[in-house]
Amino acid sequence: MAVRALYTGSFDPITNGHLDIITRASRMYDELVVGVIVNPAKNPMFTKEERVEMITEVTSFLPNVKVDCFQGLLADYVNRNHFQAVVRGLRSAGDFDYEIQMAHMNARLFDPGIESVFLMADPAYTFLSSSMVKEVVSLHGNAEGLVPESVLERMKERV
Ligand code: COA
Repeated sequence: MAVRALYTGSFDPITNGHLDIITRASRMYDELVVGVIVNPAKNPMFTKEERVEMITEVTSFLPNVKVDCFQGLLADYVNRNHFQAVVRGLRSAGDFDYEIQMAHMNARLFDPGIESVFLMADPAYTFLSSSMVKEVVSLHGNAEGLVPESVLERMKERV
């Protein structure tokens, strides 16, 4: 049976840190779905369609990666789609504190056998977040190497 995993987040926009986790996770599973979450509380720079489009574009070299988007409870989406694992990246001890709480809560909500799996972020990207890149680009700073080239172009157009 094919082992399928989900890597989820807002991806507003996808960064090279996310892409590193996606690339590594794609080698661990038969299929990796990148799930763009629609959080009504956030005011994103890109629509969910634009975020899906950008991720599809920059992961096109990974044949077992698919992109989807969803709203609502993560565990509902995971159970409904029969994923065996949910991958998360850890950049720092701060991420760990947040993730451990979320993993324990999700463990109660996931169907039996579904695991949260953590990959350490590449040290080159441990300082990175989508918001920080948005701030740098909006203030006309140099964000080269932090997001894929095509994403950077779209960000510059947007600001
Ligand atoms: N490289 C670069 N940046 C990274 C990164 C990496 N490897 N890993 C995380 N980040 C950044 C993201 O860009 C994001 O930056 P931003 O806050 O500036 O946008 C930040 O770290 C947080 O990312 P993430 O942890 O993915 O948060 P999120 O808000 O994008 O998504 C969910 C969090 C989707 C997992 C969580 O909110 C969720 O499950 N929501 C659904 C509702 C639910 O089920 N709630 C109950 C949970 S128990």
